[in-house]
Amino acid sequence: MGFDSITKRKTIRKFKNISIERGYVISLIEAAIQAPSAHNLQPWEFILIDSIEVKEKLSSKMASTWINNLKKDGKTQYEIEEKINLSKERINNAPFIILPCFDTSKVEKYGDERDNAEFIMGIQSVALASGNILLKATEKGFGVLWLCAPLFCPEDIRDVLGMPNHILPQEILIIGMPDEDPIKPKRRNLNDVIHLNGW
Ligand SMILES: Cc1cc2nc3c(=O)[nH]c(=O)nc-3n(C[C@H](O)[C@H](O)[C@H](O)COP(=O)(O)O)c2cc1C
Repeated sequence: MGFDSITKRKTIRKFKNISIERGYVISLIEAAIQAPSAHNLQPWEFILIDSIEVKEKLSSKMASTWINNLKKDGKTQYEIEEKINLSKERINNAPFIILPCFDTSKVEKYGDERDNAEFIMGIQSVALASGNILLKATEKGFGVLWLCAPLFCPEDIRDVLGMPNHILPQEILIIGMPDEDPIKPKRRNLNDVIHLNGW
């Protein structure tokens, strides 16, 4: 796994209706846990979901919170239904779901403002582990869709999956065989993002 996977990786949003064996997914988790982590605390947990019952419970519960938020935003019934149906369909039809979580009990605590930095380090560590999943999946020919929705409804996720309060779901990673070959979105120019020896 090298620069090739890094450049080849792109978000896939359409998957073939082919199930993914748990063994393949375990190899993605093996890649995830090779990530660096602050103080080597490895504050990650991964929930693997391939049960249709669990996927349906999850998508319905998440939809209930999202509907309330969309109503608050003044969206029309049509707009709400469109978004909710797409979201439910994505989760229910996902060939496999990995839900990376941040175990907040596994970070350093000082009882002062440094706790915020440690909390962010925990999130960064789980994000790096998730990045490894994306790269390993690309290397193996899988596609991945990263959904940020769990950040907006952690209680829903915890409720359906029986998770304790100190576990923060970070994102849903849908893993499957790609059924599309989208153009990778353009990156900003190197010259625009590099600041040599100062801002
Ligand atoms: C933190 C994070 C959250 C994301 N959330 C979503 C999401 O909720 N829905 C979605 O369709 N894509 C989501 N994406 C995928 C991005 O839209 C995608 O990475 C970006 O457009 C660049 O495209 P690429 O991945 O093909 O390079 C997310 C990606 C990241 C890193």
